[in-house]
Amino acid sequence: MTSSAAPDPAVLSPRLPSPLQELDDDRFARRGLRLLLKRDDLIHPELTGNKWRKLAPNLRAAAGRTVVTFGGAWSNHLRATAAAGRLLGLRTVGVVRGHELADRPLNPSLARCAADGMRLHYVDRSTYRRKAEPETLAAVLRDLGVEDPYVVPEGGSNVPAVRGCRALGEELGDHADVVALACGTGGTLAGLAAGLPPGRRALGVPVLKGGFLAADVQALQERAFGSRRGTWWLDERFHFGGYARVTPELDAFAEDFTARHGVPVERLYVAKMLYALVALAEEGAFARGTTIAAVVTGSPFPERS
Ligand SMILES: Cc1ncc(COP(=O)(O)O)c(C=O)c1O
Repeated sequence: MTSSAAPDPAVLSPRLPSPLQELDDDRFARRGLRLLLKRDDLIHPELTGNKWRKLAPNLRAAAGRTVVTFGGAWSNHLRATAAAGRLLGLRTVGVVRGHELADRPLNPSLARCAADGMRLHYVDRSTYRRKAEPETLAAVLRDLGVEDPYVVPEGGSNVPAVRGCRALGEELGDHADVVALACGTGGTLAGLAAGLPPGRRALGVPVLKGGFLAADVQALQERAFGSRRGTWWLDERFHFGGYARVTPELDAFAEDFTARHGVPVERLYVAKMLYALVALAEEGAFARGTTIAAVVTGSPFPERS
């Protein structure tokens, strides 16, 4: 496919800026706090949330080349990339963690990727861990045999993605004092914080255990903008045991949030961030009069039970 044949993602009519809704929630109101939801989950039905903000600049940069990217068996990022490929007529390849999966029936997430035309390529876990090392990446690409691929890292967090997420901060502008979002690789936080006006703060809630994220976010900002940007901090207490761990308590919290506000709550990221905000409000972490915006960075994948 030539670059002139690659349509711009704007043809997919994203809903931008995404809606900002005020919620009536007594857990915040009784402490003099306002809670807003930044509904990035409504940007596009298939490229929801931060997926749109991170993928759109990469799809432009790919300019019709085959997009090769990485993810686990339930990766939201792989599904979004596959959907983008179908919608825009781009070839996509997903490098999937876990060689053993090659011999098993596809789970619903990978089945969706395959149905959207993504070619799936499985690698063992040790290769997957080393995929950012140039020799390992070169070997994986050689195995794929794709000519002139456009490589997007796991989670989609590269320089174009981080720059793309700046628009999230710009859209929020002075509507909120504190903006909260869940973090995986930290790319969305890195961009968001850079786009906020002076005096506004971003709170990241990591969903992985490990304590490495602050350094990663700073490194992403240095690569994308040349230096650390904006005011941001992390609260590392709300990972619920680590990536993809969902406890009955978290599940009940998310169900209750949906019952109160009619908003579907994605469990692996969004639920942990909303839980953190309620806990922080209870602790008195925010001064009375603070307006908090919670970013809904994705929607639930119904087939994941
Ligand atoms: C729904 C959702 N929210 C938040 C994130 C975290 O984004 P990031 O990896 O940029 O920190 C992800 C992962 O991309 C996600 O799928």
